[in-house]
Amino acid sequence: MRWLLLGLGFMAAVLPVPVKAAETAHLSIDASKAGVKIDRNLFGQFAENLGHGLSEGIWVGPDSPIPNTRGIRNDVVAALRALQVPNVRWPGGCFADEYHWRKGVGPAGQRPATLNSTWGGVIDTNSFGTDEFMDFLQQIGSQAYVSVNVGSGTPQEAAEWLEYMTAAQPTALAKERAANGHPEPYKVGFMGIGNESWSCGGDMTAEHYLGQLTIYSHFIRNDNPSQQGTNQMLKIAVGPGFPETEWTEVIMKAWQHHDWSWNIDGLSLHWYTVPNGWPPSTPSTGFGIDDYGKTLKSTLFMDEFLRKQETVMDKYDPQKKVALVVDEWGAWHAPLPGTNPSFLVQQNSLRDAILASLNLNIFARHADRVRMANIAQMINVLQSMILTDKEKMVLTPTYYIYKMYLPFQDATFVPVAFDAGTYIEGSISLPRVDTLAARDATGRLWLEITNIDPKKPVEIDAEITGMTVKSAKGETLTASAVDGVNTFTAPDTVVPKPVSASVKSGRLALTVAPKSVTVISLEP
Ligand code: AHR
Repeated sequence: MRWLLLGLGFMAAVLPVPVKAAETAHLSIDASKAGVKIDRNLFGQFAENLGHGLSEGIWVGPDSPIPNTRGIRNDVVAALRALQVPNVRWPGGCFADEYHWRKGVGPAGQRPATLNSTWGGVIDTNSFGTDEFMDFLQQIGSQAYVSVNVGSGTPQEAAEWLEYMTAAQPTALAKERAANGHPEPYKVGFMGIGNESWSCGGDMTAEHYLGQLTIYSHFIRNDNPSQQGTNQMLKIAVGPGFPETEWTEVIMKAWQHHDWSWNIDGLSLHWYTVPNGWPPSTPSTGFGIDDYGKTLKSTLFMDEFLRKQETVMDKYDPQKKVALVVDEWGAWHAPLPGTNPSFLVQQNSLRDAILASLNLNIFARHADRVRMANIAQMINVLQSMILTDKEKMVLTPTYYIYKMYLPFQDATFVPVAFDAGTYIEGSISLPRVDTLAARDATGRLWLEITNIDPKKPVEIDAEITGMTVKSAKGETLTASAVDGVNTFTAPDTVVPKPVSASVKSGRLALTVAPKSVTVISLEP
């Protein structure tokens, strides 16, 4: 029998999972019990100078046959505009601590070629520099989150970079920016002070980093006149990339007693889903329900990780002034065979989409402290929104999650009481269902339901109180197999489709498919 089961397990890895009889889940939602705001910055992105993330993914150059505006590809811009990306973190990642901004400004033909030592030692023409990044943000309608170089740079270099970007008065650097075509100062919404300074950013102790942080925080200023009042640039310190809390203790303890000369608005946190540990070895295509379950189990650790850090932050900052900023997260799988392993190329499947929804729901449940997050990474790198190959572009299942979650940007969290039981596969047990509810500015209630179970549909019976609901409509993202992907030749394999839902006497009823993410709007 055991052999038979093992054999069936193998078959499940290569065949679509058979659908079984539905389970029922009772949900209870009191729409009048509104909680905190789900900050739209939780839906931020990360675009590092790595592999084909920028070069080819965003930047093709003005002379490219690929349709572009000032060198930035039009298809990618249109796709990202539709996501209303609140902020983009750039230029790294580890790359930030080897980046010297001056090499990336000025006439295109005069910029030096440098080596991208962090990511494969490839030649970098520096064609996509500060002004191109700002142009890209303006085209997609987003805000800058720049990471300044602490590891191999100086406070002076970083201060001059901010002056170049933000000074309105006619300083030499503001004039240089104007000569480069941008007389108006740029807005910089967020500044990260270093990246992973405990590792690739300089292998510092927390105390050493703190010494750098206080200097960078004091001397690096945003001079844009429109960012001096309520709209100030937020400064984000390097935080942990490990569950232990010593680093957070050191930074937050110092912050509690900080004087006027320095401050931070956020502490970053990095956590990737790497189910088999480092180096990442889970395949991004052609896997079965065992890998699926293991990956989702692993990703749910995010909740515990946040709790641990929040406990320390609450001790030193009970008013929650300092945000926890998860500015790198996502699935990190094995490099796609045939690609440069330093370019971190992976496919993106339904499993990754479900992983994204679970993490976004966790962030929303921690929204009183977690006010910003950046999935890694935007295009062609790790768990990306978009894949490109020369003139071709395809939107990933994760892209569609971000599209479906648009109504949750800046919506007000509404608690949901539910227990849909457990999905068990071998030694892995997972909550069968996860869910998120929120009200938008128009009073509409939005309900997201993730059915983790790859075999059983779930019949949702939701009792809604606190508002009168007249109708419901929504869409669902699923595929015939957990490893379903979109490709350049089959781009619509995993795309959202309408789902039917009914409302009667304050109860919402719908059936959610196995391994699916569904978002429903409930109209008052
Ligand atoms: O996202 C890839 C890398 O992962 C980033 O450069 C680094 O910060 C992290 O370790």
